[in-house]
Amino acid sequence: MTKTQTFGIASLGVHLPPLAMKVEELAELRGVDPNKFTRGLGCREIALCPEGFDVVDLATEAARRALSRWDGKLEDIGLLAVGTETAVDMSRPLGAFVASNLGLSGNIRSYEVKHACYGGSVALRQALEWKLSGVSKGKAALVIAADVSLYAPKDPGEPTQGAGAVAMIVDAPTICAIDADTFAYSEPQLDFWRPVGEAYPRVDGPLSLDCYMRGAEHCFRQFIGERDAKAAFAELSDICFHVPFPKMVKKALVHTATALGLSEAETATLYEQKVEPTMRLNQRVGNCYTAALWLSVAHTLAGKDEGARLATFSYGSGFGTELFGLTAGPGAKAAAWMTDVETDLKDRRLIDGAEYERLREANVPAH
Ligand code: HMG
Repeated sequence: MTKTQTFGIASLGVHLPPLAMKVEELAELRGVDPNKFTRGLGCREIALCPEGFDVVDLATEAARRALSRWDGKLEDIGLLAVGTETAVDMSRPLGAFVASNLGLSGNIRSYEVKHACYGGSVALRQALEWKLSGVSKGKAALVIAADVSLYAPKDPGEPTQGAGAVAMIVDAPTICAIDADTFAYSEPQLDFWRPVGEAYPRVDGPLSLDCYMRGAEHCFRQFIGERDAKAAFAELSDICFHVPFPKMVKKALVHTATALGLSEAETATLYEQKVEPTMRLNQRVGNCYTAALWLSVAHTLAGKDEGARLATFSYGSGFGTELFGLTAGPGAKAAAWMTDVETDLKDRRLIDGAEYERLREANVPAH
């Protein structure tokens, strides 16, 4: 019997926008108790794009950074898949804008994936399965998850806004191997959607929370299977979730662990040790939709010993969910991509409420 080859993330690039605002500033602007945003939702800062800076800039720079640290060449890329819900054109894929900036063309399959926040994970799975199928002929895939999340001013979702991009080269499992096995669950629901022609999403907040929690339970039940849930969780060093805001993740973890039979004390320990630390970078960026889970993964993999096992849970409104495992590779320890994060956080400028108001007036997203 031939041994199945293992593939994974060979190089990672992250890009965060040049502006940010503390959620306390937003609370003051909206006349809300800041504790609602910090303690109630678990948010700290929202990353923001200045005028003239958009999702194409985020995606291009993340890709440039991933490519610059990879030992392959542009000609070795055979697939470019971009997951986003910040479309800049209804027909032309975001990847075409990025490819033009990178000078990437030739014998490449290039396309965009849309499924709300789940699009980046779908693109990653397709890239992995393209490698596993053998049709890649030894070429690598460039996968980008990039989004700018903006709600209408005064919308309850406003404190959860954010922006960012994560680029991943799928090839040798240098940073991490991706499990071929995967566990998906979906249901058609109207929890969060953006009608054609509208600049901002419409949200049924309570329904979206319920869908996320049910999706998590379905995926974790499949992942655990016949195993003892406590033993299965013990094998994982970390559990990364899509992070719309940290309280959502806590609610989903508590719901799922309880449904799987963990006690209140066991659930609290699981959250404190294996889930809460995975969201520290997300708290400084906000919800960057397709990139939110992969930002959490990038942060969590940094410094990990080879062999550490992570579980990743994707959620995209509409709704689609998927859970699969990663195993840290030899490149996780050095975490070269974290220089991107440190540089962007150091260089970005914190703005106040008055500047935020001016930015929002000037920067109504295209629709
Ligand atoms: P809201 O309805 O204004 O907030 O917005 P709330 O009244 O439910 O309060 C939130 C929490 O703050 C509650 O805690 C309050 O008790 C607490 P909980 O009871 O839930 O533990 N609170 C306070 N705590 C301390 N001091 C205070 C205080 N006041 C209240 N003074 C909502 C919440 C989620 C609706 C809003 O943020 C929203 O609409 N967000 C967008 C939707 C969303 O993120 N949904 C998450 C699941 S769907 C998803 O993840 C997909 C998504 O990423 C999109 C995609 O897929 O593309 C969004």
